[in-house]
Amino acid sequence: MVAKISSSLLPDNTTIAEDGMVVFAGVRADDLAKEYGTPLFVYDEEHIRQRCREAVNAFADGVSYAAKAFLCKAMARLAYEEGMGLDVATIGEAFVAIQAGVPAEKLTLHGNNKSFEELQYAMDKGIGKVVIDSFDEIAKIEQLFSASNTPVKALIRITPGVEAHTHEYITTGEEDSKFGFTVSTGLAEKAIDIVSNSDAIELMGIHAHIGSQVFTKESFRRSTETLAELANSFSLPELCVGGGLGVPYLNDESSISITEWGAIVRKVCEQRGVAAQITAEPGRSIVASAAVTLYTIGTIKELEGIRTYVAVDGGMHDNPRPALYGSGYETFLARATASERDMPITLVGKHCESGDVLVRDGSIPSNASIGDLLVTPVTGAYGQSMGSNYNKVLRPAVVFVRSGQAELVVRREGLEDLLTADMG
Ligand code: LLP
Repeated sequence: MVAKISSSLLPDNTTIAEDGMVVFAGVRADDLAKEYGTPLFVYDEEHIRQRCREAVNAFADGVSYAAKAFLCKAMARLAYEEGMGLDVATIGEAFVAIQAGVPAEKLTLHGNNKSFEELQYAMDKGIGKVVIDSFDEIAKIEQLFSASNTPVKALIRITPGVEAHTHEYITTGEEDSKFGFTVSTGLAEKAIDIVSNSDAIELMGIHAHIGSQVFTKESFRRSTETLAELANSFSLPELCVGGGLGVPYLNDESSISITEWGAIVRKVCEQRGVAAQITAEPGRSIVASAAVTLYTIGTIKELEGIRTYVAVDGGMHDNPRPALYGSGYETFLARATASERDMPITLVGKHCESGDVLVRDGSIPSNASIGDLLVTPVTGAYGQSMGSNYNKVLRPAVVFVRSGQAELVVRREGLEDLLTADMG
């Protein structure tokens, strides 16, 4: 018997109707499924706004939302309305943000291998900051500057040599990393020197991002210490600690809040007398627990003494994280939110491979049946954004719910969308 789903994993404005149905910001899950179909991403808009405000309070006006976690025009607008800039990792993310009406100067462009096209786009559009990742990138910017004479405002990304204690694929601050300039070997100082003397670049500060889904306070402290030392010794105006704050996905997990994370960073900076503006780029901690995915159960396969497979209409195309990182999620039935979950299951999708697992060790009530609505919470970050059309599956719709209303912000794809770039 597995305990009912913990309410702390559900979006802030979630309630349960008298008949047991889960209700998101005043909208019943079964009504959402009827109106928009499944799979469906459901985001609690007020929940996202609250996390944005928390981040703005923790880091003042220098905080950007890391758009890679989840981006569509409505999300870009929301983050901007709440006082955040946007961290964009590609020209594609920058384009969507600009199309949403976010002023280019509120964007920060990242990337370990920015193309000439991306750098030129940043210059042409007046993107606020470029985070320089390599000596080759400095050379590229200088080359473009010689033609355009437009200097670029930039941060320099350093590699502080800090272990983030997270999945190897999402660790970025260790010395053995494709990202940034290593501090311990003097490359970071060398880059700061070169950029300080370049007409093509106006150096605004330094940046580090040690990884994602990080729970270790000490890792944030150590990375901030390294940044503080460099910011002080070069009198740099900005110190950006990146993102990375971990969030709970399972009933027995917990993490610190955005406010606590900000306090850790500020304390280190105060102790070291940092005069620079302290900024950050949270992604996951803004959107992860704001959303759930609704699926419909299509088949149930009981293998006596082995396991019960429950297959839903989604899969690795709407959430590749379990297949990529072995990430765990919870499951529950939409009509039985507060019930004990007595049947252990493995939740799988509809793709043609056995790796298509959404939840390896889930549980739901044993009276679950075909057609039931199944919910996986904490799917707001790196699910829809890392989704694909594998097997030419159509990407799900995304709705924002608020005060009893649902708004369709990304429509479900149709078959014709599969051919938009196909030249025949
Ligand atoms: N800043 C930079 C430079 C980053 O590379 C990232 C994430 C962030 C900020 C935001 O980090 P967050 O607050 O979301 O942890 N696909 C992986 C996560 C990859 C994170 C990549 N960079 C996952 O699904 O776990």
